[in-house]
Amino acid sequence: MKITVIGAGYVGLVTAACLAEMGNSVVGLDVDEARVAGLQRAEMPIHEPGLADLVARNLAAGRLRFDTDAAAAVAHGSIVFIAVGTPSAEDGSADLRHVLAAASSIGRYMNDYKVVVNKSTVPVGSAERVRGVIASELHQRAAVLPFSVVSNPEFLKEGAAVDDFMSPDRVIVGADDDRAMYMLRSLYAPFLRNRDRLLTMDARSAELTKYAANAMLALRISFMNEMALLADAVGADVEQVRQGVGSDPRIGTHFLYAGCGWGGSCFPKDVKALAHLGHTHGVGSQLLDATLAVNDRQRQLLAARVVQRFGPDLRGRRFAVWGLAFKPGTDDVREAPSRVLIEELLARGAEVAGYDPIAMASAAARWPDLSGLQYAPDPYAAARGADALLVVTEWREFRSPDFERLRAAMAQPIVYDGRNLYDPATVRALGFEHVGIGRGT
Ligand code: NAD
Ligand code: UGA
Repeated sequence: MKITVIGAGYVGLVTAACLAEMGNSVVGLDVDEARVAGLQRAEMPIHEPGLADLVARNLAAGRLRFDTDAAAAVAHGSIVFIAVGTPSAEDGSADLRHVLAAASSIGRYMNDYKVVVNKSTVPVGSAERVRGVIASELHQRAAVLPFSVVSNPEFLKEGAAVDDFMSPDRVIVGADDDRAMYMLRSLYAPFLRNRDRLLTMDARSAELTKYAANAMLALRISFMNEMALLADAVGADVEQVRQGVGSDPRIGTHFLYAGCGWGGSCFPKDVKALAHLGHTHGVGSQLLDATLAVNDRQRQLLAARVVQRFGPDLRGRRFAVWGLAFKPGTDDVREAPSRVLIEELLARGAEVAGYDPIAMASAAARWPDLSGLQYAPDPYAAARGADALLVVTEWREFRSPDFERLRAAMAQPIVYDGRNLYDPATVRALGFEHVGIGRGT
């Protein structure tokens, strides 16, 4: 099939490469000229395991190309995906500017029947808005061309995006016409372990499902983060509670890890957008408001504990921060808990040295305002002379550090274990003060 994917970010680029891998002819369209020029040379704008090989192979095979020319790209695909960003607007709602701009391009340049597939995460009713924008562009051209608009939310996780796309838990297609549904069934068939994994529904339900799924996951984590605070207060260990609770199959083991807060390009903006949608419709959600408030507090927890220990004036103090990405496996630092911590430490006059195996370049590019943040070449260099080490992202390479070397490098052997990576008793036996999240200390 001929496919166009508008937006070559985490979702669009992965979608384009994976669809090409299955033999489709795919054009990736992006407004970012530098990104497209790089992709044409198989240079990756993002870090995502397995993606570089996939892109290079499909470029070489001629099944995949990238363009900034909207007219040519839109003309190419009989299925046109919209996979552009939907950031938070000032009021917390989803900013649909890029989605509607993509819809305009489609209406302006389409030349025959198109299935327009919205993969961006968008509020309920957006499929109708996209349909309206395309219809109005066609009207201005005095063109009469048929098209369908389908909602097809994406559930991939960063750091595992290619695997998730290649082998999805489920594919949700919200559409009300048979022709579009048939085309999407055919397109997705090679990716499904069995055909029941493709769920069809109306577009509004598909749009709401996406937000509900992310909000449910965020809510679970916020709940466990509250349990962690309580565990600290009453002398229980949230790690043991997690195992005990998670072994009930009705609850399950995933997304129960307490930590220094959730971040990323999606949970924060999507929970806000769903909360906003509810308030707009007179169905404000106290649970969603609380999920966000608990996370705001949790992201400030490490800094608050440092202040508790060292006092409010941190001038003359030095801290090491391990992990800048919002989670392991990605270079994405959007809404990362590390940023909240570093900002607070710097504001209080501390020196901060950060280290991340992958995300230092993107942090430097995205956080020009954090000019005080020093980027260390390795984890032990970050720890040199530090009054405390703060572990913010659970990268594998942080799981079993050389504690002797760490102690020798640091000014004081104190570890704030923001992801509960270490066994407190073991680390204490090695001469460290250990502060976990909900470990009963
Ligand atoms: P991103 O910021 O990584 O990429 C978006 C890309 O779209 C950018 O390269 C940008 O230049 C391009 N773009 C913007 N406007 C354009 C236009 N009019 N025409 C062509 N290109 C345009 O975004 P992302 O993380 O891939 O997210 C895209 C959407 O998918 C969002 O709605 C997000 O919520 C959703 N989503 C993201 C993930 C994830 O893990 N990142 C997972 C599931 C769903
Ligand atoms: C999340 C969802 O998991 C995807 O299904 C969804 O498609 C995506 O958002 C999206 O809509 O963009 P992602 O943001 O890549 O994926 O990251 P997650 O693995 O979900 O982690 C989100 C945050 O929660 C991270 O900061 C992580 O550290 C935190 N987290 C996760 C916890 O604090 N505890 C946990 O138990 C799990």
